[in-house]
Amino acid sequence: MSPSPDVFEKLVSLCKRRGFIFQSSEIYGGAASVWDYGPLGVELKRNVQDRWWRDMVRLRDDIEGLDSAILMHPKVWEASGHVSGFVDPLVECKNCKRRFRADDPALKGAPGTPQAQCPSCGMKGTIGEARQFNLMFKTFMGPVEDTAAIVYLRPETAQGTYVNFLNVQQATRQRVPFGIAQIGKAFRNEITPGNFIFRTREFEQMEMQFFVEPGSDMEWFEKWRAWRMEWHEGLGLSTDRLRYYDQKKEELAHYARAATDIHFDFGGSLGFAEIEGVHNRGDFDLTQHQTFSGKKLEYVDQANNKRYIPYIVETACGPNRTLLALLVNGYQEEKVEGEEEGRTVIKLQPALAPIKAGVFPLVKKDGMPEFATKLADDLRKRFPVFYDESGAIGRRYRRQDEVGTPFCVTIDGQTLQDSTVTIRDRDTLKQDRVAADKVAGWISQRIDGVNS
Ligand code: GAP
Repeated sequence: MSPSPDVFEKLVSLCKRRGFIFQSSEIYGGAASVWDYGPLGVELKRNVQDRWWRDMVRLRDDIEGLDSAILMHPKVWEASGHVSGFVDPLVECKNCKRRFRADDPALKGAPGTPQAQCPSCGMKGTIGEARQFNLMFKTFMGPVEDTAAIVYLRPETAQGTYVNFLNVQQATRQRVPFGIAQIGKAFRNEITPGNFIFRTREFEQMEMQFFVEPGSDMEWFEKWRAWRMEWHEGLGLSTDRLRYYDQKKEELAHYARAATDIHFDFGGSLGFAEIEGVHNRGDFDLTQHQTFSGKKLEYVDQANNKRYIPYIVETACGPNRTLLALLVNGYQEEKVEGEEEGRTVIKLQPALAPIKAGVFPLVKKDGMPEFATKLADDLRKRFPVFYDESGAIGRRYRRQDEVGTPFCVTIDGQTLQDSTVTIRDRDTLKQDRVAADKVAGWISQRIDGVNS
């Protein structure tokens, strides 16, 4: 089921050409592994984030939303273990100055020995000993650049949630078990970013921290592990491209008692790779913040006359990777019956597609453009629409297929007689004739239907 390796390459080119994703600062030669989301990319990413927010926050009465700041008190990152422990082993080639992770499979021979060979310039014996490299970006708060003013760009949203645990619990009067969800930027100075938007230095996270009574943590961990897999399947990601990866004891992060990653098969050289992590973090984080801040972070269970530091089950998903998975999953090159030219199509659920409908006058005369423009303006009040009157109708369909638009509405000769239009379905290519004043409802029903 894996797509051929060149699908990834084709997608990078399509994403640029059609306005999904651009390289950051491209006119200056680009900023390495940083990407900008264009008009279609921002819609698709927002649709993924809206789906997550709806399912995690709006549809549940036991999860609250939060939007905490990126910059936090520097002690947060000492307490969380990131200052001392959020490190990767780094090696440098003395010849070409390129840097690699010490565990990079492309590196031959042990670092620091004459056998060590640089994967970039090919020289032997030039790779130095490994040293620990902290992945957090450092900057200064205020006008003074000294150690007292150091702050970090957060490498995860989770810590902003932990330090607000009691604020949210007391403001909402939630009782354990309950969760706090947030979506926001995170930054990691990755040594080897790459694979397009898969591993970048600036990215987004959709993280939810679920606070539970100690002892019930593994039960909740199992529930969230299953629910999160169902969520990815619900986006339309093919089930045979999704799998669990249970981390072994020696792979667990410093805070984790148990961890399962959800992997998606991106095909090509990337293959199965993590799109989400589900972690049982125990009481590590709240205990650390209680110790470092000197403020009690206990939950008081009045009904049962108990007080304790809750355990945390975390679900940590990256919308950038989810978006990439959706594009890889939906990308198809198809033959079209009766046509010489095939088509490229991205099959996205209507609710996720950046544009919901293309609106086309069949020809640029006889009042068709006027009718189509008015209809497009009406539809725009409900969902994103693209009006197109240039080129042959077949080409206009192809342009929308290529960006995943589920419906194309055509105004033709019959429209002028009976005010009906055709609606062509991206996947079945079937055309339905619908009264123009029913088009908004017809499409809305399919966007918000059972699959959304
Ligand atoms: N709070 C826990 C945490 O941050 P993680 O497994 O390091 O856990 C969670 O990250 C998710 O964030 C990953 O599954 C991935 O989707 C996304 N992510 C992490 N690093 C990333 C990077 N460098 N580029 C893009 N997404 C990243």
